[in-house]
Amino acid sequence: MSIQIGGIAPDFTQESTEGTIKFHEWIGDKWAILFSHPKDFTPVCTTELGAAARMKGDFEKRNCKIVAVSVDDVKSHQGWIGDIEDTQHVKMNFPILGDADRKVSGLYGMIHPQANDTLTVRSVFFIDPKKKVRAMITYPASTGRNFPEILRVLDSLQLTDSHQVATPVNWKDGDDCVIVPSLSDADAKPKFPKGWKALRPYLRMTPQPNK
Ligand code: BEZ
Repeated sequence: MSIQIGGIAPDFTQESTEGTIKFHEWIGDKWAILFSHPKDFTPVCTTELGAAARMKGDFEKRNCKIVAVSVDDVKSHQGWIGDIEDTQHVKMNFPILGDADRKVSGLYGMIHPQANDTLTVRSVFFIDPKKKVRAMITYPASTGRNFPEILRVLDSLQLTDSHQVATPVNWKDGDDCVIVPSLSDADAKPKFPKGWKALRPYLRMTPQPNK
């Protein structure tokens, strides 16, 4: 059964560089980002993990935990962390799951056999405090991810959960939003005291409501 937006993120227990993780329990009442790496001691992953460690505070500000997974064991990860810290000039500050048995990679469909039989693709799963999968991003092993984009998606998910807006093309935190089409003008009026500009009846631009 493939993972879909709106479904419950598969739970698992797996060893990590910070001890055993029971995934749902570890998430607790926070958001979580689970992201995969094709293999230890690979160049692109090394840069991604360094970037993620530098941005951990940005995720924390958004009440979000981060956890990586790579298909090697924890002992191998521990050796790799030394390289990540040396080359990326950062202290690793979040767990990397060991996944030599492919438990997590299998549950989350991270191995795409037509791309590679054994390495994972670069997946990102956005999981909310109710453990629902809210978004997914998938890149091939050869393309490093854009971590500011991951934060941007998280901002959009959190904003659209709390206000009846959606975020338009290239939106970033602070930009104008669109009022959801299901909300009538009459119902929108009290919710959007700053007003809106109706470019079409279905396309109503409004300042970001929580700013
Ligand atoms: C990397 O992480 O650098 C990588 C992994 C597999 C294939 C290509 C690049």
